[in-house]
Amino acid sequence: MANAEIGVIGGSGFYSFLEDVTEVTVDTPYGPPSDSLYLGELAGRTVAFLPRHGRGHTVPPHKINYRANLWALRSVGVRQVLGPCAVGGLRSDYGPGTLLVPDQLVDRTKSRAQTYFDGEPLPDGSVPNVVHAGFADPYCPVGREVALAAARGREWEPVDGGTMVVIEGPRFSTRAESRWHAAAGWSVVGMTGHPEAVLARELGLCYTSMALVTDLDAGAEVGEGVSHAEVLKVFGENIGRLREVLFDAVSALPETGSRSCPCGHALDGWDLGFELP
Ligand code: ADE
Repeated sequence: MANAEIGVIGGSGFYSFLEDVTEVTVDTPYGPPSDSLYLGELAGRTVAFLPRHGRGHTVPPHKINYRANLWALRSVGVRQVLGPCAVGGLRSDYGPGTLLVPDQLVDRTKSRAQTYFDGEPLPDGSVPNVVHAGFADPYCPVGREVALAAARGREWEPVDGGTMVVIEGPRFSTRAESRWHAAAGWSVVGMTGHPEAVLARELGLCYTSMALVTDLDAGAEVGEGVSHAEVLKVFGENIGRLREVLFDAVSALPETGSRSCPCGHALDGWDLGFELP
């Protein structure tokens, strides 16, 4: 099977990344991922692109098979993942067009499979053990620096750090929920950042979120309430420069064999009960 070292999971309004791609269909013990993987080369790096919601945006955030998506990426060789996504700003100074590279996450989802370690047997008969991955710092520190530098290099001053609260969706927040999220000091709100980040951690993958603010959420001082059309419009307006930043980030990520971050060691010392793909 074709191989790739870096994964890019495209969000709302982001359904293709590279030209000259090889489409690879991957099945996983958790069922099919959101779409095929699209493998290509960029600046001498091999990249697998996966549209998070499927081409044509057919999979809503709460129905995404996050376990299959991360598993599929790892199974073609991916060890570092960049996760661009659309978010709402919770502060009036984080308006549409802001690029924020979060360093923290709050999970307010309700119904999503968020671990590989649930004791359910895999099709090959192996049974995952009880394992508790550390998640104090949910994002790869090296990936974050690479993403920030790539944005600055394209003259798009990013917000360095902040908390992404992830809601269940698919509806947007009420004003009260949104004011609560803002009052808690959280920065942006999205629907897909969890469990993507934690599943990457459980597979020993580096994961970097790149959150593009497409709207001011309902509770932000000057927010009027959000519409999906607005989200797609602003994402569309920023897709060109986001793509450029991702190109630069891909080429600047370390080689798989020389990762210096702790991400690949998240499960050192645990007996997993199954083989990672
Ligand atoms: N994605 C884009 N904008 C959003 C918002 N305001 N709330 C949740 N997810 C979003």
